[in-house]
Amino acid sequence: MHMLQWEQLIKECSNCKRCDLGKGRTNIVIGRGNENAPLMMIGEGPGEQEDLKGQPFVGPAGKLLDLLLDAMMFKKDDYYIANIVKCRPPGNRVPTDEEAEKCLPFLRGQVKLIKPKIIVCLGSTAMKYIIDREGKITQMRGQWIEKGGFWFMPTFHPAALLRDESKKILMWEDLKKVKVKFDEINQEQV
Ligand code: URA
Repeated sequence: MHMLQWEQLIKECSNCKRCDLGKGRTNIVIGRGNENAPLMMIGEGPGEQEDLKGQPFVGPAGKLLDLLLDAMMFKKDDYYIANIVKCRPPGNRVPTDEEAEKCLPFLRGQVKLIKPKIIVCLGSTAMKYIIDREGKITQMRGQWIEKGGFWFMPTFHPAALLRDESKKILMWEDLKKVKVKFDEINQEQV
């Protein structure tokens, strides 16, 4: 059943014409990682490299994210990464409300299948559509929000760290909290 539901989701994404972003895509970018992971990371939308490869976070921001997660001693199997929108917005602009709304049912479907315990929102777009429409990432980052059976952690988008080095230490602090919670949850399940 699980397998069929994933296949159905991938098929629906691949055929999606709900918004104009689909017209410009090379590939749809659904997600990567362990489909049964306790930790899900959510970004904004595919960039150029992601659109070309059909995989999220494989460009410069993704390389930095992988570095941070490796350094925090997360294993590749510990997490799954996806985005708010599954097609690249032209010129990497922020997705519109309409584009995000039309794409969100796919993300909700992924969350239902993966059943993560922890959801990390990478940057303000992910935080906006997942946690709080009016929230400011600079104010909300680093604080746990427990809602609907999930632990949410908003933090910076790794691309923001590439523009502003001073955010690195702050994101590192946030990821440390995620690692502590992740280890606690895994302990409970042993
Ligand atoms: N930025 C994102 O938000 N997502 C990606 O997949 C790549 C860059």
